[in-house]
Amino acid sequence: MTIGEAVGEAERRLAAAGVASPRVDAEWLVGRAIGSTRTALYADPGRDLSDTESSELDGLVVRREAREPLAYILGEWGFRRLMLKVDQRVLVPRPETEVVVERCLELLRGLDRPAVLDVGTGSGAIALAIADEHPGARVAAIDVSSGALEVARENARVTGIEVAFAEHDVSDGLEGAYDLVVSNPPYVTAEEIETLEPEVRDWEPRVATVGEGHTEAIAAAAAQVLVLGGHLVLEVADGRAKVVSDVLRRLGYEEVRSGEDLTGRDRVVEGRWSSAR
Ligand SMILES: C[S@@+](CC[C@H](N)C(=O)[O-])C[C@H]1O[C@@H](n2cnc3c(N)ncnc32)[C@H](O)[C@@H]1O
Repeated sequence: MTIGEAVGEAERRLAAAGVASPRVDAEWLVGRAIGSTRTALYADPGRDLSDTESSELDGLVVRREAREPLAYILGEWGFRRLMLKVDQRVLVPRPETEVVVERCLELLRGLDRPAVLDVGTGSGAIALAIADEHPGARVAAIDVSSGALEVARENARVTGIEVAFAEHDVSDGLEGAYDLVVSNPPYVTAEEIETLEPEVRDWEPRVATVGEGHTEAIAAAAAQVLVLGGHLVLEVADGRAKVVSDVLRRLGYEEVRSGEDLTGRDRVVEGRWSSAR
């Protein structure tokens, strides 16, 4: 089978399995099987795959047919300027979370050595991206999952970026003093998760996806550790920006506002802590 035929065959199998973007995923998998990049695939579309490459590709396609996320199969995923290791211990970092980082960077602009805390760091995506893009930032990150922290620490090692990771449950409160607290907490309800795509429902860790009340708990805990004038930035579920904004106002945050993700939905809520404790 040639490279071009292999892409077509993989695309057909993935489409039959209900994968949302079968062509793109097929290109990634063929690229991985032949040790090439997705974009370089078509340099030689008529080349035959070796037996080893064909059986490697079949194994990859079988995994994707089972709706394992492409990111877990590839073992890495791009987030802002970073390539992060990801597996079943962590949520796959999403494009909307890149917008959360963007907003954090805007709020940190001009601060020399700001202290930043990422609550529920998962792969370390937010924490590592902020440390990467705001030189001098002193970034700490917590997660309740020891497995996620193993991945996050590995990502810090591979990227050479310094973040202080700690295993901690945010419901036990927070300690320290931070200029910015950021979180993309679990916010899918137990009923909702059953209606989501298999990639999310069956493969991503439930501790990372399902959670009710986390957003509110984090907002309350952050109020205990934010310095005067410090900011809280939260990724919120689609349709929840207003409710979360009201929670922040009730807790005493000021300048509460929401911002849009790349598809124009309000998915980022922020507030400024300006009360003396
Ligand atoms: C939606 S994922 C976000 C991961 C990463 N920050 C990202 O944006 O890709 C939520 C993370 O919160 C962590 N988490 C869930 N409950 C927690 C708790 N009570 N305290 C601290 N972390 C928690 C999960 O383990 C998971 O890694």
